[in-house]
Amino acid sequence: MNLFDVYPRWPIEPVRAQGCKIYDKDGNEYLDFYGGHAVISIGHSHPHYVKAITNQLNNIGFYSNSVLISLQERYAEKLGKLSGYPDYSLFMVNSGAEANENALKLASFHNRRKKIVTFRHSFHGRTSAAVRVTDISKYWAPINENLEVIFLPLNDIQSVRETLVKKDVSSVIIEGIQGVGGIVVPKPEFLRELGRICEETGTVFIVDEIQSGYGRSGKFFAHQHAGIRPDIITIAKGMGNGFPVSGVLISPKFKAVSGELGTTFGGNHLACAAAIAVLEVIEEEKLIENVAKTGEYLIAELKKLPYIKEVRGKGLMIGLEFEEPVKQLRDRLLFEEKVFTGITGTHVFRLLPPLSINKDIANEFMKRLNNL
Ligand SMILES: Cc1ncc(COP(=O)(O)O)c(C=O)c1O
Repeated sequence: MNLFDVYPRWPIEPVRAQGCKIYDKDGNEYLDFYGGHAVISIGHSHPHYVKAITNQLNNIGFYSNSVLISLQERYAEKLGKLSGYPDYSLFMVNSGAEANENALKLASFHNRRKKIVTFRHSFHGRTSAAVRVTDISKYWAPINENLEVIFLPLNDIQSVRETLVKKDVSSVIIEGIQGVGGIVVPKPEFLRELGRICEETGTVFIVDEIQSGYGRSGKFFAHQHAGIRPDIITIAKGMGNGFPVSGVLISPKFKAVSGELGTTFGGNHLACAAAIAVLEVIEEEKLIENVAKTGEYLIAELKKLPYIKEVRGKGLMIGLEFEEPVKQLRDRLLFEEKVFTGITGTHVFRLLPPLSINKDIANEFMKRLNNL
């Protein structure tokens, strides 16, 4: 059987990884400033994480949500404490798109409305409603087209007000920091006003923290830089450090209705063990403080480079915009300097290293970038 060929792939096969280093099958060592697309939070193959998953697998790896799984409560309690949302509830699923899908459904169950507002250059995933609120129309299939979605310009509060005042929009979904859209940070005053208008109009306010959350911005959630509290927050990526797990954080104003949401795999024993281990490492190694400090240093160093047009982002979610297309430069960084990075669009590099990198690693990255 052939693989269904939808991915452009680099001709590199990683076989081992440790911390922020990746080793391919020819023995080459790479610096990982991409984190497998913002997924690696505590570093590859962290010993505490490996031990926790291994121990769990030796006991029980999976059972469905038809039984008690107290690991889910243990995880939720820790997440509530570390994220600053102890009063919210958690629904666990498996991927980012699925988390957004459930958030949008929950909003619509709650206020019985149908329309959704999202923003230009958004990305929220590849499944039914999630792809439709993604501002990349080539990803929509004809079956996605019927959902009523309104795309508004980011940071334009007037257009939000004019749209929501009719009180027929179910939810607004926005990324904490736009990732695929080019590392664009929404203005704090825009987020605050957006929250107020949602509240006044009975619109559910959803923040997608799938890429920008879990400490990546230097706070647990990127939206916390603006001091807002959304009704629903979605998480994935860094949550499992590579184990597929995601979640929906739900404000106490929503009532859980038996049977409304559901999943076979979501919140299974292994997923919980992975997610708990990640939070334990984040707390123990003070990774969020590390991100704030190392991110600030790295951004300051990058801003000194005259050949970069603009440096954007927060913490260790950094976009570097160049005057010219960056594909060639990125390939040279990968094949000559052995550094993984991401790109978005044609002109922007995306840096999404593990949250555990230090100043020395940041300097090593700067050295390799400057070698080009
Ligand atoms: C902001 C955001 N939302 C949702 C998703 C979709 O997550 P997944 O690929 O796990 O479905 C992504 C993935 O890149 C993302 O960056």
